[in-house]
Amino acid sequence: MKVSVIGLGYLGATHSVAMSKLGHRVVGIEQNPAKLAELQKGNAGFFEPGLDQALAEELKSGRLSFQSGHDQTSADADIHFLCVGTPQSQGSLAADTSYLYSAITDLAPVLKPDSVVVGKSTVPVGTAKLLTDKLSELAGFSAQLAWNPEFLREGTALSDSLRPDRIVIGVASDLAEAKLREVYEPMIASGVPIIVTDLPTSELVKSAANAFLATKISFINAMAEIAEVSGADANQLATAIGYDERIGNKFLRNGVGFGGGCLPKDIRALMARAEELGVGQAVAYLKEIDNINLRRRVRVIDLLKKELGELSGKKVLVLGAAFKPDSDDVRDSPALDIALLALEAGANVLVHDPIALAGVNKKHPELATEKDLLTALNNADAIVLATEWKEYRELDPMLIADKVKRKFIIDGRNVLNREIWQAAGFEIVSLGKG
Ligand code: UGA
Repeated sequence: MKVSVIGLGYLGATHSVAMSKLGHRVVGIEQNPAKLAELQKGNAGFFEPGLDQALAEELKSGRLSFQSGHDQTSADADIHFLCVGTPQSQGSLAADTSYLYSAITDLAPVLKPDSVVVGKSTVPVGTAKLLTDKLSELAGFSAQLAWNPEFLREGTALSDSLRPDRIVIGVASDLAEAKLREVYEPMIASGVPIIVTDLPTSELVKSAANAFLATKISFINAMAEIAEVSGADANQLATAIGYDERIGNKFLRNGVGFGGGCLPKDIRALMARAEELGVGQAVAYLKEIDNINLRRRVRVIDLLKKELGELSGKKVLVLGAAFKPDSDDVRDSPALDIALLALEAGANVLVHDPIALAGVNKKHPELATEKDLLTALNNADAIVLATEWKEYRELDPMLIADKVKRKFIIDGRNVLNREIWQAAGFEIVSLGKG
């Protein structure tokens, strides 16, 4: 099939490569000239294991190309995938859907009546209907619009796109369903379940999935708060409750909490949308999910103060800046927030991360960064492990013991072996442990 992918950020760049790998002819549309130039050279513009290599291969195959706007090639597409961002609005909890409206405004003049427009971005329930009406008005005919939320995770984006747990499509016509079944045929044939539903359900599925995941993490972090003051161990607790299949053991790792460009903004957008629909109470609990999550960051500062007293003049090394390992994404990153809070409290903060420092320097030039781990450790009064990169998990405390000024480490992700660190003379505080 011929497809266009509009907006080539995390979602769009990965989706265009995945579509090309399935054998479709793909044209990706990206308005940002610098980003476009990088994509044309085979560089996605963000760190995602395996993606650049796959991108280069697909470009070479001739099935995938990128351009700045619509032309005859994109107009010929059977399906136009909308993959633009829906960030949190300035000054409110709601999602900003304006990029979707710009995308359909650009698309309308070249849209053909039998081409299907498929939204993949995460949107407030009801957005697809509004977009259908707007697109039909702009195009001058009844536009075919469907919704097909994406469930990929950063760090495993391409494999998640090619082998998803499920495909969810919200459709308002048989034509849209037929075209989506055709485009995903190789995945459906390989056994990936497909759920065909209406537009609002498909939109809400994505918000609900992320709200559930955020709830699981904050649930275990709430238990961690109790464990910390009662002498219990939230890790063992998670293992114990996780054996119950109804609960499951995934997404129950306590620590400094969730961040990134999705979970935090999606729970806030769901609260805002429910409020607009007059059912704000239904998800009012998400406010507490958000609060529990943000409290974990403050907890680390409290632990630092407890150990070091006044933070002013103390060197605090924050290990990690990305919101999770195998990503250079620092959006709403707990690690970065901890670094900023420690800085605000007067500490002499240094941030290390294997790949995300460029983003830190750009967004927060006030934070000092160091790319060499051993250099970063020099004279540290405290270490905070905030992102569980492999090189931190494998750090040998014996090798670094004489570098630091004070042997004190907070394991914010519960990934270090306490015995080994203690044997090297470190005082180790693991979140969620009394
Ligand atoms: C999340 C969802 O997992 C995807 O299914 C979804 O498609 C995506 O958002 C999206 O909406 O686009 P992602 O943001 O890549 O994916 O990251 P996750 O793997 O969900 O991790 C989110 C945060 O939770 C990270 O900061 C991670 O460190 C934290 N986390 C995760 C925990 O603190 N504990 C856990 O047990 C698991």
